Amino acid sequence: MFEQEPLACWNGERLPLSEVRVSVLDRGFLFGDAIYEVIRVYAGKPFLFHDHLNRIQRNLEKMSLTADLDSIERWILETIAASGYVEASVYIQVTRGVAPRTHRFPDPPASPNVLIYVAAHHDSYAKFRNSGASVVVFPDQRWKRCDIKSVNLLANCIASDFAYQRGCAESLLVDASGKLVEGSRSSLFGVKDSVVLTAPLGENILPGITRRLIQQLCEECKLEMHEETIPHSQLNEIDELFLTATTMEILPVTQVDDHLIGDGQIGPVSRQLVEAYRNYIDRFRSEA
Ligand code: PDD
Repeated sequence: MFEQEPLACWNGERLPLSEVRVSVLDRGFLFGDAIYEVIRVYAGKPFLFHDHLNRIQRNLEKMSLTADLDSIERWILETIAASGYVEASVYIQVTRGVAPRTHRFPDPPASPNVLIYVAAHHDSYAKFRNSGASVVVFPDQRWKRCDIKSVNLLANCIASDFAYQRGCAESLLVDASGKLVEGSRSSLFGVKDSVVLTAPLGENILPGITRRLIQQLCEECKLEMHEETIPHSQLNEIDELFLTATTMEILPVTQVDDHLIGDGQIGPVSRQLVEAYRNYIDRFRSEA
């Protein structure tokens, strides 16, 4: 469990996370009819907050789910402040609410349930950071709307556990056409001849907020970037690989299954982007 109890906000009411109670008829519980978001907090402030709020809004629209985003924004800020945590992450989940069990959406709509909790941040990737991570390849068994950040994460959980059981940091998901689309919980980047590669946005991947920041940092660092999906069969032509996500930040990858990436060391482009990312966060921390 958690070393320190996270502080929750349940439909606007603040309480310890362990005290939140939800009906078994909540559609998030019965159908996975819910969306979620994860935001990193540095120096007590939510990082890339408006990008995350925009993604919540877009996900709500894609799910035809109505919730009051202004209240969600206010509750997030109030819960962070009340938690006292300065290095933290915020989990937000909006479900379609409680209704008698029918597959179609309730008519009239139920009131959505909004869970927010703020937990102290622990870097679970620390042991992989300096040497570079090893990852495994796993089939992408997810549904066809991976652009929606829904809580239907069973295929992601299976892929993630496959990696964990082998002492690896992540699973790279390979689609039916043999392309490496993204990680089970992260966006995937490669570097080939100094050009940064990542899959184009579509319904097969999550539009990562960190992915967008990497695109911006590539521009600032004058690194060329192409939206191009890496075929599994061409991994031996890739010089560097790294993963990105909100709590993972940038994680260089030096081994995929039994295959070393480049010379098996963290490459120069990855190092440059790790440093650019660090500087960006340092600037964010020191802003008023
Ligand atoms: N995971 N792709 C998938 C499938 C993800 O689950 C995530 C994030 C990302 C990266 O997105 P972002 O940069 O916006 O965090 C890409 C989150 C953090 C999670 O499920 O906990």
